[in-house]
Amino acid sequence: MSVTLVIGTQWGDEGKGKVVDYYSKNADYVVRFQGGNNAGHTIKVGEEIYKLHVVPSGVIQGKTGIIGNGVVIDPEILLQEINDLVQRGKKPKLLISDRANIIMPYHKILDGAEEQYLGDKKIGTTKRGIGPCYSDKVARNGIRAIDLTDKETLRRLLLRILPIKQKMIDLYGIKNKLDEKEILDTYSTYGKRLNQYITTTHIELNKAIRKKKNILLEGAQGTMLDVEFGTYPYTTSSHTIAGGSTIGAGIGPGVINNIIGIVKAYTTRVGEGPLPTELLDKTGEHLQKIGHEFGTTTSRPRRCGWLDLVVVRHSCLISGVSSLAITKLDVLNGLPELKVCIAYSLKGKTIDYFPARINDVAACKPIYKTFKGWATMDAASQKVSDLPKAAQEYLRFIERQTDVPIGLVSIGPGRTETIEV
Ligand code: IMP
Repeated sequence: MSVTLVIGTQWGDEGKGKVVDYYSKNADYVVRFQGGNNAGHTIKVGEEIYKLHVVPSGVIQGKTGIIGNGVVIDPEILLQEINDLVQRGKKPKLLISDRANIIMPYHKILDGAEEQYLGDKKIGTTKRGIGPCYSDKVARNGIRAIDLTDKETLRRLLLRILPIKQKMIDLYGIKNKLDEKEILDTYSTYGKRLNQYITTTHIELNKAIRKKKNILLEGAQGTMLDVEFGTYPYTTSSHTIAGGSTIGAGIGPGVINNIIGIVKAYTTRVGEGPLPTELLDKTGEHLQKIGHEFGTTTSRPRRCGWLDLVVVRHSCLISGVSSLAITKLDVLNGLPELKVCIAYSLKGKTIDYFPARINDVAACKPIYKTFKGWATMDAASQKVSDLPKAAQEYLRFIERQTDVPIGLVSIGPGRTETIEV
């Protein structure tokens, strides 16, 4: 049995959907533990493409998906996703934590209002209500999955919360009246429909671990969007790092056997905030085009740049990453020269760590090591030694710099375009 955790080591969109799908073949349970429908995981099976936002990717392989207590759930989106899967003959086996917080309509309104108010200082959120929902959870004003299943409880909660939210909406000058009856009816209907899935997932999960089942913990976003260790305040509102998985799923840290850090072979970011290795030139455009770097959730173009190993080392350190999965290596095909950031120059000093002060991050100038590129690679490669020599050197350099072994290399979107090391 094993408990394996998959996390993103950059700014999200590292290709976690594919890697989770790949490792799901051995898993009995696949667990989401943070984030919400700000995430978007794409899985390609043959000619079929699945885009999931809340449902754990492993359900495509027929595994039991758990939406843990640390996730924030938009029930409308979740029900749509379940429906879509049912229509495509993939009825998901799903368990939803009774403690997961619910994204309410006012969270979405306020997410948009705050961003608009911030103007050019905005975070660039996905406007899915994620931040306001997590804020309410911590402020103890949240509504949880279990609350949707009892209309009277929900009514009491709404009576307390809605007037405060209405005041905030009015203060932002937004013309939107929260209709208590409509919200109560809609959300208790969602509760009725989701009731069959809502349970004490932390108990189920711990039972499964005792029974030596294989568990895959599926992280969303990436370390640099972690609310504690990311490019704060340009982050999401949850813990995307390894530590987030134990809180967000209700398991002890000691049960995790493997921590897989996903590293895209270059860097991307959606939304605002500094990106030290950003390429605002033809190479950046090339990576965006060849890598199809447009958000799964918002369709926004992703900013692209060279691989930043200061970032990856930071992520490995914080999460105790035990192996790396390198994704989208094939996107680098055809580039005559590749650069990898190994340190930053900040105010005349060389630093090899990620600074806390956001203005310092913005002032960091990458120090690069330059590599020879490779023309192309065989999508049917089975071993690292089948890859072009220059690509092998690129991979070895990542291992040496991070001091973490590579366990998997993805050289295309399909399941078969994967090399297990
Ligand atoms: P929020 O999570 O919607 O509050 O957005 C906060 C920041 O995280 C923004 O920069 C988003 O673009 C970014 N973000 C949130 N989810 C993802 C994701 O799944 N991939 C990449 N960026 C994300």
